[in-house]
Amino acid sequence: MRQASEYLYVALDQMTPEEAEGLARRLAAEVGGFKVGMDLFNQGGPQVVRQIVALGRPVFLDLKLHDIPQTVARGVKAVRELGARYVNVHAAGGTAMLQAAKEAAGDDVGVLAVTLLTSIDGETAQAIGWQGSPAQIVERLARIGQEGGVDGFVTSGEEAARLRALWPGAVLAVPGVRRSADSLGDQRRVVTPDAAWRAGADLIIVGRPIARAADPVAAAQAFVQEIAEGMAS
Ligand code: C5P
Repeated sequence: MRQASEYLYVALDQMTPEEAEGLARRLAAEVGGFKVGMDLFNQGGPQVVRQIVALGRPVFLDLKLHDIPQTVARGVKAVRELGARYVNVHAAGGTAMLQAAKEAAGDDVGVLAVTLLTSIDGETAQAIGWQGSPAQIVERLARIGQEGGVDGFVTSGEEAARLRALWPGAVLAVPGVRRSADSLGDQRRVVTPDAAWRAGADLIIVGRPIARAADPVAAAQAFVQEIAEGMAS
């Protein structure tokens, strides 16, 4: 059985590469891994990823790739060479793109698919031309992901249990996680760490409640404690 701390991935957002490296160094012994998004990657480039990988924790590179298959395959190959453990792609890129991503990833890199961004509501989806309710769109895109052979999905806590029921083997990464004591910030659909674990999350992704805490180490430990409570109940 995995330890509670292995589930916790800290999102290194809204900080300089120096701050990200410093924070990751302080947290490396407490958490399961780190998420590097386009904000940090576009500032710090491959160098910051290498520095964080060197701390010995898995890195999820949140680049949400979506392009023609050959270009995505080359992008994933570069991610693999950096030593990242996970990368994500848009399921809407279609089966051929997903297959190309998975082929380039080999066994070293887990490819996670983004279905419908939580910022896209029913009205926006309709304007884009996507039929059905957001829940139906998520399910359709998840099937495309599965057909493309991805390893798992990025999903809200609310949808995680459904995806877990459909695909028991999928790796599920769940952002939007808050302890009940935390402020919501701009997150609306949040789940608590223990609820995320119960819903089947493999990567429980938390950013600001840890990164902006007066004591990030204590905050990370509090999240791990809540995951442990979920695992014990
Ligand atoms: O600071 P916070 O815990 O809200 O950070 C969550 C991380 O997960 C951020 O990097 C954010 O971009 C990402 N994310 C999210 N909600 C989604 C998808 C990704 O918060 N639906």
